[in-house]
Amino acid sequence: MASARKNLMIDERYRLERKIGSGGMADVWLAEDTELDRKVAIKILHESFAEDQEFVERFRREAQAAAGLQHPNVVGIFDRGEFRDTYFIAMEYVDGPQLKELVKGGMGVQDAIDFTRQILNAARFAHRKGIIHRDLKPQNVLIDDEGRARVADFGIARSDRSDITATGSVMGTAQYLSPEQAQGKDTTARSDIYSIGVILYEALTGQVPFDGDSAVAVALKQVNDVPRHPSSINSDVPPALDAVVMRALAKDPERRFNDADAFLKALDAAEKAPDTPRRQDTAVFAAVGPEGEASDAGYLDEEEREEGEEEEARRRRRRWIALALAVMAVAVMAVAGLVAFLVTRSNPDQVEVPDVLGQQVGVATEVLQNRGFDVDTTYSASAAPENQVIEQDPIPSNRGGSDIDEGSTIVLAVSSGPGITEVPDVQGLNEADATKRLEEQGFKVKPSFQFSSDVPNGRAVGTQPASGARIQSGSTVKLLISRGSNQAEVPSVVGLQTEQAIDALDAAGLGSNVVQRDDDAPAGEVVDQAPSAGRSVKKNSTVTIFVSTGAISVPGVVGQPRKQAVSALKQAGFSVAIEEDTSAPASKTGIVVDQFPPGGSRGQRGDTVTIVVGDAPPVP
Ligand SMILES: Nc1ncnc2c1ncn2[C@@H]1O[C@H](COP(=O)(O)OP(=O)(O)O)[C@@H](O)[C@H]1O
Ligand SMILES: [Mg+2]
Repeated sequence: MASARKNLMIDERYRLERKIGSGGMADVWLAEDTELDRKVAIKILHESFAEDQEFVERFRREAQAAAGLQHPNVVGIFDRGEFRDTYFIAMEYVDGPQLKELVKGGMGVQDAIDFTRQILNAARFAHRKGIIHRDLKPQNVLIDDEGRARVADFGIARSDRSDITATGSVMGTAQYLSPEQAQGKDTTARSDIYSIGVILYEALTGQVPFDGDSAVAVALKQVNDVPRHPSSINSDVPPALDAVVMRALAKDPERRFNDADAFLKALDAAEKAPDTPRRQDTAVFAAVGPEGEASDAGYLDEEEREEGEEEEARRRRRRWIALALAVMAVAVMAVAGLVAFLVTRSNPDQVEVPDVLGQQVGVATEVLQNRGFDVDTTYSASAAPENQVIEQDPIPSNRGGSDIDEGSTIVLAVSSGPGITEVPDVQGLNEADATKRLEEQGFKVKPSFQFSSDVPNGRAVGTQPASGARIQSGSTVKLLISRGSNQAEVPSVVGLQTEQAIDALDAAGLGSNVVQRDDDAPAGEVVDQAPSAGRSVKKNSTVTIFVSTGAISVPGVVGQPRKQAVSALKQAGFSVAIEEDTSAPASKTGIVVDQFPPGGSRGQRGDTVTIVVGDAPPVP
């Protein structure tokens, strides 16, 4: 990937920031989605894979399918496209460690169960849509900042080539590979169940069931070797949980859990009764000692076998019955074998689940009803053509689902077409959640920012068209995001110094306009403001502040008796200096005859006003 580098724009939209990882097929970059102003992870397929036409086709097709997966435990795919000579996928960026970091030293039993549950929830969700992961491993489980497990790379084609190359990352893959995948056989949903079993095993014990010097050596063990019981490595693992892990790791897909749901139920049961393994879970590995060797004695537990098992099991059973009869062995044993045989036979009404995914609902319903199933349908808008079946529960047998009772109900989710969908109400959600909700309804989203006085910054104000409008799914909805309020409350700045007042207004998002005013307050002090404090005004508008010049008027005291004049000047804020005028007429003795500065002029508080007082010498 010589051509990818920092700051490179992909599709005129994603700016590469830094490489976060590299796997067998691709490099992963952290990038900025310049259109939506958010971080994304961009996975760029190695160029060498891009030359393989068939592979590329699969990669594109499967990314398309996976793009529809919206689930809290799945890393969502946003976009995909061509980049230079290769291809890329844009997906949610998960800013957290891989589960691999956490399982390295093993984790507590409770944590191991909790994470496994989340992975199973993701798998159950995807499997029901017919999407198989094929490469579940702790490297593909990322932990987000809320501690939630998010499964990445769902349904993304993985190259078969990567299994053979003996690089580290690929070795990692072989350790989680189901026996059927290791042998190049068909991959089903149950292959994912096996891989999840390996993840649970590693989470409980800190080590994978099978390790080796090469991917091939590990793959061979997946097919042939029996793993040690987890409890033999970590004694905290209770017997019921032991059995659950071992069942998930059954070599024969038919002996594993039917589906993710059954695995989840088994975990529930193991938590409720940790010391009492369920029979159906122990049956599979009854023959295995804790250290991993098979022991013949195990096959005596014939009554513990689960119904609906494969040919091989039945063969053994018959052999045992024959043997029992032939040698007239202990009656108990014969009875046990017989019981198991009868239990199996008395339940002949298990049938395959037909695959109607992608079919017209009418045809699908007919097919299912003809085979004796009840059918329930739910409709939702989707990019798929109208009336096409987009989900099926339980999963079809050919996609890894197991046989079910004849006459059971099959639930079909049907596309109501790219037709009319109601715009959902997203007001108050953050941008990411609002975008997600709209995209879930099949809309394209174009964010747009505006002020709002009642919606906090960063939250959705609403949409255009507004919620409740019924429009074509697939069309673009404008998502209005609040930039916060455009109103500011005017703070009180009276009594502050000019600079402080300007700063306070600035902090409130307001400008200031300074007007000088004569006032007896000290110079530079704000004596009034307009608009007044507490008023709500537009952000960035201007508040006029009146600043005292500190100038005061000199009272006119000429003609006043000296005492009165001094007190008038002092009261006005001036100091007084007195001069005597001996040339003044006697009638002016004790009276102010002049002053400087004159009455009415402006001065500063504390300035000195000089008065001249008559002081005629006494007539001799
Ligand atoms: N959506 C994502 N968000 C954050 N990091 C990711 C994301 N997808 C992948 N990565 C990181 O990039 C690395 C390489 O991914 P990938 O090519 O899928 O290889 P692998 O899954 O085999 O490790 C991963 O190990 C992971 O650390
Ligand atoms: Mg990956």
